[in-house]
Amino acid sequence: MLSTLSRSQMLQRLASRYGMASSGGFARRFIAGETVEDAVAAARSLETRGRRITLDYLGESVATVEEATAAAREYGRLIGVLVAAGVERNLSLKLTQLGLDIDQATCIDNLRRILEPAQRHDVFVRIDMERSAYTAQTLEVFETLWRLDYRNIGIVLQSCLHRTDGDVHRMNELGARVRLVKGAYHEPADVAHQKKADVDAAYLRQMQRLLSHGNYPAFATHDERIHQEVRRAAAARNLRDDAYEFQLLYGIRRDLQETLLAGGNRVRVYVPFGHQWFPYFMRRLDERPANILFVLSALVGEWRSPHGP
Ligand code: FDA
Repeated sequence: MLSTLSRSQMLQRLASRYGMASSGGFARRFIAGETVEDAVAAARSLETRGRRITLDYLGESVATVEEATAAAREYGRLIGVLVAAGVERNLSLKLTQLGLDIDQATCIDNLRRILEPAQRHDVFVRIDMERSAYTAQTLEVFETLWRLDYRNIGIVLQSCLHRTDGDVHRMNELGARVRLVKGAYHEPADVAHQKKADVDAAYLRQMQRLLSHGNYPAFATHDERIHQEVRRAAAARNLRDDAYEFQLLYGIRRDLQETLLAGGNRVRVYVPFGHQWFPYFMRRLDERPANILFVLSALVGEWRSPHGP
């Protein structure tokens, strides 16, 4: 239902009015802000507290070449800002933001516009994985760039998909860096596991393969049980804590960031920012219904305040 709501124009207008209000906007828990300056400030604050970061300039499903080119340009600008600000050089992006819905060539051109300066400035670029309709194409684009010798790139694989064991194998063969996630999209039974237990079992299996044969894998989850299993599996292989990392989303389970850091692990926080935050925000609500209550109570507070509508 939330994915239908996320396409509602009225809801988007309401959200943009209240969600990012400078203080207390209900989306601010999950999104660092709308400007590059907001993102850099959030990154600095996280780094001061021992976290690594990756910045995501939010945007997806663009329909025109102009929008896709503008997004690539904005990422180029972001690279300059990161270098000047001295925060960690690590980006995450979505291919539909760069024109994958228009055609693959446009998307690859735009991605190369980002990867060129990224390579010069030692910026790592992670390609997020979107819904299953894009999985094959996303991996094709990734392999095309790999063949072109770009090595400052990484990919995301989703344990919920039936195909992922094979994709883990392939990425391990290439030596590509994988971020393993459970998957944020509702997918049909012919392409994805429908039971949480099956997704978790796939995650654990794939985690083992990435630890044994992968290149600096990233385990992106807020699932404490999986964190423990990763640590156990790494210890069983005598892997050092810097052979892999954990990744968590901005504003979610900050207590776990502390626990992992205290245990000597590397922790990276995914910091999203930008005006196009609504679809990302709706996915976070969809993952955890309790977040809807959090938003509703923030909205009630907003309406009760003397500055309310
Ligand atoms: P699970 O859903 O089992 O949750 C475990 C626990 O985490 C919950 O019990 C709760 O405590 C907490 N939790 C989870 N989600 C929460 C939320 N929204 N709010 C509050 N608490 C929450 N997906 C994708 O399809 N493509 C991608 O490219 C990425 N990229 C990505 C990067 C990073 C750094 C992370 C952490 C995640 C992603 N994801 C993603 C999202 C991922 O697929 C998944 O939807 C979320 O991480 C939620 O699932 P968990 O693995 O946390 O487990």
